[in-house]
Amino acid sequence: MAGGMTQATTHSLDETHLRELLTELGEQARRFRFEAAPNPCVGAAVVAHGQVIGRGYHQFWGGAHAEIEAFAEAERSGVDPAHWDTLVVTLEPCSSTGKTPPCVDAILARGIKRVVVGALDPDPRHRGAGLRLLQDAGVEVEFVPNAAPLERLAPHFLRWTDVDRVRRPRPWTIAKWAQTRSGQLSPPANIGAGRWISGPQSLKEVHVLRGRVDAIVTGVTTVLADDPRFSVRPPGDPARPPLRVILDSYLRTPVTGRLFEQPGPGESAGAIHVLCQGGANAARHIALSEAGAQVTGLHASEEDHVALRDVQEWLWTRGVRRVLLEAGPQLLSRYLEAGFVDQIRVYTGNVFGGRGESLAPWLATAKLEERGDREVGEDSVFEAFLPYAE
Ligand SMILES: NC(=O)c1ccc[n+]([C@@H]2O[C@H](COP(=O)([O-])OP(=O)(O)OC[C@H]3O[C@@H](n4cnc5c(N)ncnc54)[C@H](OP(=O)(O)O)[C@@H]3O)[C@@H](O)[C@H]2O)c1
Repeated sequence: MAGGMTQATTHSLDETHLRELLTELGEQARRFRFEAAPNPCVGAAVVAHGQVIGRGYHQFWGGAHAEIEAFAEAERSGVDPAHWDTLVVTLEPCSSTGKTPPCVDAILARGIKRVVVGALDPDPRHRGAGLRLLQDAGVEVEFVPNAAPLERLAPHFLRWTDVDRVRRPRPWTIAKWAQTRSGQLSPPANIGAGRWISGPQSLKEVHVLRGRVDAIVTGVTTVLADDPRFSVRPPGDPARPPLRVILDSYLRTPVTGRLFEQPGPGESAGAIHVLCQGGANAARHIALSEAGAQVTGLHASEEDHVALRDVQEWLWTRGVRRVLLEAGPQLLSRYLEAGFVDQIRVYTGNVFGGRGESLAPWLATAKLEERGDREVGEDSVFEAFLPYAE
């Protein structure tokens, strides 16, 4: 517990009610675990005269924090902010600027008199910092022990803030792929031109996901086979398109590909980075640079590809924190073997058969955590976190 903080006492809501409220907020917040990761699942509620007048959740990475969402709902309730007496939040409010401004400032700006939290930040660099700022400003701060433990609400966030990972940082990596019912990542040859494994609704979801990552990573064979653009289209948010990063040891990426086309109306596409082995063909380097790509030489792996550890470092030093890996089975397998995948999203389309290597054997033995399954149009989708494996 942060110094000087009191445990929950009886005010308009007693400890039993606070505990119940924190539990409920935590369970609701967990619905957004895959969208928010690596951020934690957080829920918040604004209380006026013993009544909850606004609830909010951190719904997606880069989006508003739970406190801000709860304030917005409380505003819509019409209750005069002068009567908002307590903010209940499952995790202590942030005090530093990340993708959004600090929540502590927003709390103080609204004149909230009392803040009740169910867990402290596990990161020693931030632990208790927000609460101290609130206390210094005269806000009454209470902690309800074990009411919203991160071990239950957001174990992935504990891995993200684990001391080893903080010491050897690498981006949070989401591997997404579409497979046929038999597990192949390429559809059967006779499926018909322009037909993909997954349906249009799944594709829309992928555009949303692309709008919420800092970079898309792929392998050169996917570029050669599919001529993708890796753009962001609505319903994805085109405001901040992710970098497009191609792992291409020998600079085989064609400059005539659709990657290099201007995005269409309402669409956006990030800068193109080609990561090759140091000393790769100079003429190709020049051609790709002239076409608009930035080319960087990295070390070679033992298998004579670009070394993935270098790729991870390269991404991190460019400020990339959340990556979408949209690759074929070769690169996906190398990433999975290296323990560099934190989260997976797998679409299984209504297609039988298929070509190429299957990831079904890997899936059959993989340890998947917190798995969630759902249907999207004719496809089924599942998401899961992978255990920390370094
Ligand atoms: N269903 C889906 O979700 C999906 C998604 C993407 C692609 N695909 C399909 O997958 C097929 C392509 O499969 P793929 O497995 O060959 O493509 P990939 O995994 O995207 O690309 C593989 C290539 O990446 C390069 N690479 C660079 N560094 C690497 C490293 N450290 N480890 C491994 N590879 C590295 C390698 O070539 P160099 O070493 O020469 O650079 C390698 O040939 C296509 O038919 C495509 O349609 C399906």
